[in-house]
Amino acid sequence: MADAEMNRIWAAETWKRMEEKLHRSLLKNGDKILYTIDKNGDGEDRYTERPSCWINGFWPGILWQLYQGTGDGGRKALYAEHAKRMEKMLDKALFETEEGFEGLHHDVGFMWVPTSAASYRLTKDPASRRRALVAANYLASRWNPDGGFLTAWNSKEKEGWSIIDTMMNLSLLYWASEETGYERFARIADLHAEKTMNNAVRPDGSVIHILHYDVRTGEALESFGGQGYGVGSSWSRGQAWAIYGFMVSYLGTGRQEYLDTAKRVAHYFLANAAQSGYVPHVDFRSPEEPVLYDSTAGAIAASGMLMLAEAVPELEKGLYRNGALLMLKALEKECCDFSEDTDLILSKGAEAYRYRAQKYIVYGDYYYLEALGRLCGRGIFSTGSDGSGR
Ligand code: GLY
Repeated sequence: MADAEMNRIWAAETWKRMEEKLHRSLLKNGDKILYTIDKNGDGEDRYTERPSCWINGFWPGILWQLYQGTGDGGRKALYAEHAKRMEKMLDKALFETEEGFEGLHHDVGFMWVPTSAASYRLTKDPASRRRALVAANYLASRWNPDGGFLTAWNSKEKEGWSIIDTMMNLSLLYWASEETGYERFARIADLHAEKTMNNAVRPDGSVIHILHYDVRTGEALESFGGQGYGVGSSWSRGQAWAIYGFMVSYLGTGRQEYLDTAKRVAHYFLANAAQSGYVPHVDFRSPEEPVLYDSTAGAIAASGMLMLAEAVPELEKGLYRNGALLMLKALEKECCDFSEDTDLILSKGAEAYRYRAQKYIVYGDYYYLEALGRLCGRGIFSTGSDGSGR
């Protein structure tokens, strides 16, 4: 059997194993939105309680992926019902709590693309469309016209801060332009991506997590290590957001330099991930001890590289496709837990280097499932998180 067919079968079987476990987790947890499982720490599973928490979109987003990929009609209805209820729970962050807009941030794409944009794409629910458009307007309002960037987080002191994660949220703006016909959303996304490409991606393909710009001139003043090891380091999830995020902007604009940037970061990522058996360390430039992994970075980068493989000419595809497969298979061997002991699957995730903790984190499962879906044609693009509108 040809390698491509063997890999497709492997991906379909692994996707199915994930469906079975995640289905059990849904039955056990009902409408609780899963976040992390700290198996080796206090042993407590955590659910998101703060409505504006950036992670709130991933568990309902997993349900939309399962909805799209499962062959079982009863399950489909169950996934849609729970995903829609959870989407409604996020209204608290948009409209109903005291923290309201004050609690929101640059990560609204992570919250409303896998929920509302996916729901609208799959069920044409007009309430979902409205929520995603409200979130897109909120994100657009973070545009600094003098500095030329979207502001991260909220505080007067951080008004000039911009972070690599925002590249992922641009899919909400490309979606809004496609949906409304107004070019201004996509234009903001394009300008932000250009600024990030020129300032946050180093010549070797490594990426800065946090940049502080002058709010009046847009000059880059200083950088911070953020969730990575420190200034000048290379937080692996940030690298993964960049691969995927520049692909989102390539698909949203057709600009070749975004594709080239995604390729450069992918080459850097693969070279570094190879040093630790394709399960990436939390930071590619950190001391040898402690050894800390971030499986979520591997899953995100793999999904981004599969998008890359689709976009490049035939003879270039192998590098990105095989690179993604090396990571997905290493993650399956070293991190995937299909037992009934836990609700989530991918272990060895890290929220940030400074916590020194290894956890199961819901966005690891979300992007792992998405990457498998890309390989075997299940649930593919179900969340619209690639911004391609397909
Ligand atoms: N806020 C995105 C991340 O932690 O990766």
